[in-house]
Amino acid sequence: MKPLLPSLLLCLLAAPICGRAAAPIPNGPPPIPPYQMRAALPAGDRLAAGKDGAALFSNRCGACHLAGGMGTNLLTKQRMAAGEPPENGLLANRKDLTQTAVKVIVRHGKLAMPRLTRVEVTDAELDAIAKYLGKAGP
Ligand code: HEC
Repeated sequence: MKPLLPSLLLCLLAAPICGRAAAPIPNGPPPIPPYQMRAALPAGDRLAAGKDGAALFSNRCGACHLAGGMGTNLLTKQRMAAGEPPENGLLANRKDLTQTAVKVIVRHGKLAMPRLTRVEVTDAELDAIAKYLGKAGP
């Protein structure tokens, strides 16, 4: 019994080391997924044409339409119900969206998606986003 006490004391003093060596708790909480960072808003005049549509989409729409977003979750369910693969829940993977449809949906909203004003997304920014997403043409 006697040698147990010193080793217990040592372990208490070296708690950070002992803690690190401990095995992971079985059935413990799952690891926290990495935080989804959105692209920065492109610099310069927000009313100027020719902006980076992918970066604008990430910044302005990404909270809902990147992986894990509530828009992606709802659309994945809809696309799968239509017999499409789950990847089509991401707007960036869609080939059937027209630029006009993207603009109309952003300005008017659609069911669970709120409409976005010209303050949130300017017409020039929406043009660039629509060009990026509207792979089915104008
Ligand atoms: C607050 C969250 C939110 C933001 C921000 C948002 N959306 Fe959405 N969006 C949704 C949701 C939710 C849906 C699915 C609506 C439904 O069917 O209920 C959706 C649907 C859409 C659709 C329709 C897709 C389809 O198959 O019907 C398009 C296009 C779209 N969003 C584009 C955009 C664009 C472009 C932006 C950025 C300018 C944007 N959204 C910003 C939540 C959002």
